[in-house]
Amino acid sequence: NLPDEVTIYEVGPRDGLQNEKTVVPVEVKAEFVTRLAAAGLKVIETTSFVHPEWVPQLADAEDLLKAVHRDNQVRYPVLVPNERGLDRALELGCTEIAIFGSATETFAQRNLNRSLKTQFDMFAPVVRRARENGLRVRAYVSMCFGDPWEGPVPIAQVVDVGSRLLDLGCAELSLGDTIGVATAGHVGALLDAFPRERPLAVHFHDTYGQALANVVEALRHGITVIDASAGGIGGCPYAKSATGNLATEDLVWLLDGLGIRHGVDLHALAATSHWLAGRLGRPSPSAVVRALTKE
Ligand code: HMG
Ligand code: MG
Repeated sequence: NLPDEVTIYEVGPRDGLQNEKTVVPVEVKAEFVTRLAAAGLKVIETTSFVHPEWVPQLADAEDLLKAVHRDNQVRYPVLVPNERGLDRALELGCTEIAIFGSATETFAQRNLNRSLKTQFDMFAPVVRRARENGLRVRAYVSMCFGDPWEGPVPIAQVVDVGSRLLDLGCAELSLGDTIGVATAGHVGALLDAFPRERPLAVHFHDTYGQALANVVEALRHGITVIDASAGGIGGCPYAKSATGNLATEDLVWLLDGLGIRHGVDLHALAATSHWLAGRLGRPSPSAVVRALTKE
């Protein structure tokens, strides 16, 4: 039994562009976000309020949010690790944030400069104050399936970290396959390990070409929020071997075939990714974008 409708949570401007070697001009980013909204995406993770030296690609977060004409039918969440990041997001009138925890010790150290344990101390006041200000908070948990330094990650450890993040007061938990090593059986086992009522989303990277198979498994488990990145751009600067996210176009092609509603205009989206690929100076890694935009 598959759902009738899903929400595509677009992460291209954030997860995609955070990993580009060149810094994309803010006007190009603003046009990218605007075109994604015009293509029908209703949730667009726009940027990050992290330390600018940690992710210089997104150091223009303030300028970008000022440059984007926010459509009131569209949600524009931003990544926030700590209270300093929250202050910056509040200043810009953001109404939705995402915190990002790690399921492993090594990645907590490398991505957050915190231990597995102390990451919660950093996030707790962020979630509390965000909610006091009426913001919706999503939580990510990274390295849910494998970690480049620690190898396979025990399911119980992921459920423990994810549950603690949700219990801080988050509305949704996105399970991140940060390095793209998951396969469908592992996805099913992890989803089964969470209590049924937990509001879960999935975030796959396509390193081993398994992202779509993993999505089908998640749909079979009743998941209705799926993260994807236009054109399949992305990765993570603090996780070697992380390649692009699942491409939004590949996801839309799958959903169309399954008759699952998503609200996105595939051709407008593929044209946007084709345009961005020109700006980035290399072809889109998405098979669907390449098939639809052959000249
Ligand atoms: P830290 O060095 O421990 O920070 O970094 P600190 O709290 O010790 O502060 C040091 C200085 O940084 C202070 O300035 C702060 O004000 C400043 P000083 O007083 O020395 O002048 N500072 C900030 N400035 C601007 N904005 C801020 C901020 N915070 C502190 N937000 C920190 C800790 C968390 C900040 C750092 O580790 C960081 O920025 N990490 C983010 C790394 C990142 O963005 N990684 C990529 C995203 S995660 C991902 O991609 C995975 C995901 O896609 C899911 C998946 O794929 O699985 C979500
Ligand atoms: Mg990611």
